[in-house]
Amino acid sequence: MRIVSRRRFTRYAGAFSFLAATGGMSAALSACRSSGGGGMKGLSAGAYDALDPRKPANFTTPLRLPGPDGGTLGIFEMTGNPIEIAVRRSQGELLRGKKTDLLGYETQAGGKNFVNPVFRVKRGTEVAARLTNSIDEPTIIHWHGLHVDWRNDGHPSYAVGRGAAYDYRFTVQNRGGAYWFHPHPHGLSGKQTYLGLAGFMIVEDDDELRLRESLDLTLGVTDIPLVIQDKLFSDSGGLVYASTDMERFMGFMGDTVVVNRTVNPSLDVDSRVYRLRVLNASTARSYRLQLMKGNAPLPFQVIGTDGGLLAQPARVSEVFVSPAERVDLIVDLRGLAVGDVVFLSSGAFDPMHNEAALMGDRATATPSGGSMPGMPGMGGGGMTATPESRLIEGDDFYLLKLTVRRQTAYDRPLPETLSRITPLPTEGLTPRPIALSAANMRWLINGEQFDMERELFRTRANTVEVWDIANAEMSMAHPMHLHGFPFQVVERRNSPRQVSGLVVDGKNRLSTDLGWKDTVLVWPGETVRIAIDFTNTFAGEQLFLFHCHNLEHEDGGMMANYRVV
Ligand code: C2O
Ligand code: CU
Ligand code: CU
Repeated sequence: MRIVSRRRFTRYAGAFSFLAATGGMSAALSACRSSGGGGMKGLSAGAYDALDPRKPANFTTPLRLPGPDGGTLGIFEMTGNPIEIAVRRSQGELLRGKKTDLLGYETQAGGKNFVNPVFRVKRGTEVAARLTNSIDEPTIIHWHGLHVDWRNDGHPSYAVGRGAAYDYRFTVQNRGGAYWFHPHPHGLSGKQTYLGLAGFMIVEDDDELRLRESLDLTLGVTDIPLVIQDKLFSDSGGLVYASTDMERFMGFMGDTVVVNRTVNPSLDVDSRVYRLRVLNASTARSYRLQLMKGNAPLPFQVIGTDGGLLAQPARVSEVFVSPAERVDLIVDLRGLAVGDVVFLSSGAFDPMHNEAALMGDRATATPSGGSMPGMPGMGGGGMTATPESRLIEGDDFYLLKLTVRRQTAYDRPLPETLSRITPLPTEGLTPRPIALSAANMRWLINGEQFDMERELFRTRANTVEVWDIANAEMSMAHPMHLHGFPFQVVERRNSPRQVSGLVVDGKNRLSTDLGWKDTVLVWPGETVRIAIDFTNTFAGEQLFLFHCHNLEHEDGGMMANYRVV
């Protein structure tokens, strides 16, 4: 607790120095005053205690699993038959005995009703889907990670209002993997995703079927999709979303963990191999995933990333997963005894809301609780990067409890080869510079804010490009996401120590950089080089997006159009 306090303190101090440096100081001060110095709008302290994800005893609610019977997160076979997906308000019981207003994607098939279905689709399927909007604001579905033409991609200029519909028709061309879908109306993506609009789209190909066969995996039983979000509840059970300028600038943090619409979930398991497909659908929070048995980390295997399987499994003891990223993990519970408990958790890390570059030696920071030096009236508890949250980014806490209930005779070996990944040819290419920065409480890409009508740059169809995404020192970590085309991470430079400690090759890449990607976290001061193949068979010019997937950053304009010509 003492350490947490000091970390909290340095974070306030960092936020202030950072805002001063980015010209946001007066805006931040007025934001702070107007939010009443950070009054908590979430659950009262006593009620929160029972939900606090730092307490293992709170993990008692059975995890909701995707199943064949429909319902919330039901497995929906996308066969090519036309489907209708309605965006609707609904209520759920996330907290015992309380109703929470949510948004959901609802669809029907075979007499069953689905909310936020887990779509399962074979590569090559032609999808025909109609979105209908039954809420009071515009929305549009974006198929995150899918290689589809821009009219099927959910560009915000296609958002439709209440009562209107939008028709999609595209062929699934991607590799097998865990893709997802969520809203993309400009300025509202964060709120709508937070209120519940997010779902998995699992694409199957031959590599995928081979893996499932060799490890005897069943979707929803031993192959478990996990949609992770952080939420902030009010006393009545409602969801509280970003209301201050600071939250919109830094990103919104909940204080409660929700996995598959289950608060503080628990799952009974056998002593065998499980596959966990993690989707970070949080608006702004990154997680440092670990598997903990008591205080000891258990190693696990990364087998896939955003765009499907790696060439080989990679053994790790932790991975970062930032908003919109997916990691596909193999967890081997064979050595465990009945009654053993393992937690999927998020380990402590420095979120680098910029304090490090400015504070120098953290040990020089004064203890928490006092006024900020030179900031009359700004008490230590009054202002944080995320004023409403009790669970600061980088705190350590639990995500999912796994309890071994049954011993099994499972003896499948983990395959040594999963797939094939051919590096894109990049020799001789001049990198396109992409600079991430901030000014006047706004996040910028190459110095610009999003303009719906204009593209930031053009790329040529059927060519390979290399981009150097360089984040300023005076910054936050930005999960940068590209629409339209998957990419490869070529190299990292100037990574912070908590990242460089995880490097697996001479290009400073991480295990999670070795597969196909659509989103990559770029830390303050870091440069990440990516390679993209703009080959496509789409008709005509294409307008796609490149943006930060911290959804408050995206909604605040940290987004750019690019045109493929
Ligand atoms: Cu998942 Cu443009 O977003
Ligand atoms: Cu996307
Ligand atoms: Cu960002």
